[in-house]
Amino acid sequence: MKQFTMEELTAFCNQYGFIFQGSEIYGGLANTWDYGPLGTRLKNNIKDAWRYYFIQKKDNSYEIDSDILMNPTVWEASGHRSSFTDPLLDCKECKTRHRADNLINEYDSSAMADAMTQEEMFQYILKEQIPCPKCGKSNFTDIRQFNLMFATQRGVTQGNTNIIYLRPENAQGEYVNYLNVLRTMRTKLPFSIGQIGKAFRNEITPGNFTFRTIEFEQMEFQTFCKKGNDEELYDYYKQYGNEFFEYLGLPKEHLRFHDHDKLAHYAKAACDIEYLFPFGWGEINGTHNRTNFDLTRHQEYSGRSMEYFDELTREKYIPYIIESTYGVDRIFLAVMFEALKEEELEDGETRQVLRLHPMLAPIKVNVLPLIKKRHSEKALEIYQNLRKYFMVSYDDSGNIGKRYRRGDVIGTPYAITIDDNTIEKDTVTLRDRDTMKQITIPVGDLQEYLKKSFSFEVNR
Ligand code: GAP
Repeated sequence: MKQFTMEELTAFCNQYGFIFQGSEIYGGLANTWDYGPLGTRLKNNIKDAWRYYFIQKKDNSYEIDSDILMNPTVWEASGHRSSFTDPLLDCKECKTRHRADNLINEYDSSAMADAMTQEEMFQYILKEQIPCPKCGKSNFTDIRQFNLMFATQRGVTQGNTNIIYLRPENAQGEYVNYLNVLRTMRTKLPFSIGQIGKAFRNEITPGNFTFRTIEFEQMEFQTFCKKGNDEELYDYYKQYGNEFFEYLGLPKEHLRFHDHDKLAHYAKAACDIEYLFPFGWGEINGTHNRTNFDLTRHQEYSGRSMEYFDELTREKYIPYIIESTYGVDRIFLAVMFEALKEEELEDGETRQVLRLHPMLAPIKVNVLPLIKKRHSEKALEIYQNLRKYFMVSYDDSGNIGKRYRRGDVIGTPYAITIDDNTIEKDTVTLRDRDTMKQITIPVGDLQEYLKKSFSFEVNR
């Protein structure tokens, strides 16, 4: 079976309208990408599957949509102003900028740069004379800590402005709304707040297509709980995350847990789920036990009490938070790698097919009149009816085999062919994208049949 490379997938996404280079006509902007018509639908379907799995199916689970721009004190309280940094150095020869830890890890993966201090990293690079990946010389500046947050200004005139930040994670929006959700939903611990939205990071390392970008989308899920329940919930959400990925169609053998030794400033325990990309294992999810760090800090910086009154035990305490966070763009990439296949057919031809889970497919059904002149009227009637319920396309150009292939390559799970039998007996031929098998089905049963296959409930 052919294994697609990152370059081939990038070209595929561009050719079929999934993802385009950002600002392409101006030569692009590094690490930015725009989702095209099919990519946007697939992305929305991934988000809806997450909504089903994390919000709809869960007790006491609420989705919010908080602003990207927040009061700058939020980022003081969260620790991002002081600790959300990368250790960077510049090559004095070719002027390119690099992350010191990446330079070391790529030079010797057993060197454990993550556990080194800034000075130790600098000395290691000097001692080993690690070469610049761009020009091959070893002549670097000192290492400086570079904050990853994008800053912008608020105010009318420059010089009389306040710095505000584009959020680097969604989580803080959930934390600052913890009291609002608790009050308005009249809920009790444990409860969860989730949200889907953009985050921004001034990443300097090369992107691997949409794997690492400066603007990306997260689906974050925070469970507020009593201290003592945190470890159980942490284990639970690690597993639940893995189940979610299998539900999306990612196979077990391409997923693994990666428990962290070095923890972020807020975490007591952290674990990533990684997917096996063509460039190696890469993080697509993180589960963190953030303790009561965040709410304690927000209480301190805002002056508002973050305490929860436990009616059962009559105690007051600041809840712990278990975070499970998902990168939409990385999941999109993993789903595409898993789905894209090149297959040898019995007649010796090859076909490219995108074997997406039907609930994720951008277009659900392709409606095809067998003979344009004879069957279009009936085909259009069926098309108009089905599009009330699903994303449907209509294709009447070229031979039927070519039309099947056009649907296969963009992942359309079904093709419906309208022929003389449709006119005489009110039946259509329904062709399955994966098996290429065809069945005859009464027009009246179509909607119900299709509804079942696209439901978020169904797993196959
Ligand atoms: N609130 C915790 C948090 O933001 P994170 O591990 O830094 O944790 C969460 O980010 C997820 O966001 C990651 O698992 C990844 O899927 C996605 N992500 C992070 N940085 C990204 C980037 N530069 N480009 C694309 N996705 C990114």
